[in-house]
Amino acid sequence: MAIEKLRPSLFSPGILGRYEIPHRIVMSPLTRARTNRAGIPSTLNAEYYQQRASSALIISEATHISAQGVGWVDAPGLFTPEQVAGWKKVTAAVHKKAVHEKSGLIFAQLWHMGKLSHPSFQPNGELPVSSSAIKADGEANTYDGAQPNVTPRALETHEIADVVEQYRIAARNAMDAGFDGVELHAAGGYLPAQFLSDSSNKRTDAYGGSIENRIRFVIEVVEALSEIWGGDRVGIKISPGISFSDAGGSNINETAARLVERLNRFDLAYLHVLERIKFPGQSMVPDVDHQALRKIFNGPYMANGNYTKEKAQRSIEDGKADFVAFGRPFIANPDLPQRYRKNAPLNEPDGETFNGGDHRGYTDYPTLEAALTT
Ligand SMILES: Cc1cc2nc3c(=O)[nH]c(=O)nc-3n(C[C@H](O)[C@H](O)[C@H](O)COP(=O)(O)O)c2cc1C
Repeated sequence: MAIEKLRPSLFSPGILGRYEIPHRIVMSPLTRARTNRAGIPSTLNAEYYQQRASSALIISEATHISAQGVGWVDAPGLFTPEQVAGWKKVTAAVHKKAVHEKSGLIFAQLWHMGKLSHPSFQPNGELPVSSSAIKADGEANTYDGAQPNVTPRALETHEIADVVEQYRIAARNAMDAGFDGVELHAAGGYLPAQFLSDSSNKRTDAYGGSIENRIRFVIEVVEALSEIWGGDRVGIKISPGISFSDAGGSNINETAARLVERLNRFDLAYLHVLERIKFPGQSMVPDVDHQALRKIFNGPYMANGNYTKEKAQRSIEDGKADFVAFGRPFIANPDLPQRYRKNAPLNEPDGETFNGGDHRGYTDYPTLEAALTT
């Protein structure tokens, strides 16, 4: 009986680094492209996040750390005073709601797009940077429409410390902006992943070649973030199974396992793993051993990717995950934890309004309460 009681569920409280959280339902980072060209969050963005403050933790949409890191139309940044002021509105709105709901933590997801940026986003129209000068397949979505990806410029060895510094400054700015912590976006083929993958990274210095060398950049960034926040307010998101944008490569399991092993010394708040996703044209390598990563990691494991409530519940009960991050379900259901708790029906997300636009498909999805009273 006592053992039964100790078995965690999706709805039992948990510890996430420095924080106690009321349940295990996390809002996954979701780029919604509704700031402006200057990357400054607005009151509309504050309203959207406030609506979702009953999540155990909100992980913000990916947020550019520097002018060099920019590469997405109308996505926010954390490198100008105006952006920090904009984010203050968001974090204050989330925290205000939290007083009532005993939750409402928000971490900033830190983003450098590396070669998936485009010269039209870069200062003086320069080439975007990466680990190596290898062009990714596909197109960049620019202010002038879709344009083919370009061959990036490989960072000089001495420049890598500057990029780590960009992360450090953004992490400091996140603190000034009132966030509760930061998550390193090391998933999805962006700059950190461009260092991890041996199809993207052909360097011959200390940042390329062996697994130990390819993980070095990510470890240095996590070290910088931990110096600012303490490891227990830093998370990392990885997606070892994603193979688009040259993010795949060989020895994926070994690389991910070594990375996670090396991350253990920071006592991070969590390891967030995008395990699977079905997007058009984006495939996952099928044989990634996510549970091996869970076993290697010495902190909480946050699972993500096509989870339903039932699947999340099972994973937590079976000890396969400590938290589950939900993406698309949170787009359409601002009160997702309440709906899951009550076994209530879910609103369906509208893919047409995911990326850019106004309040429609952003802040106008009804809560259960609103749906019941209309
Ligand atoms: C519209 C949209 C925007 C996304 N933006 C981000 C992002 O900024 N950062 C990130 O790490 N993942 C991003 N993702 C991936 C989600 O966080 C999540 O990993 C993915 O949707 C799988 O979870 P789900 O099946 O619960 O939606 C995005 C996904 C969608 C649908």
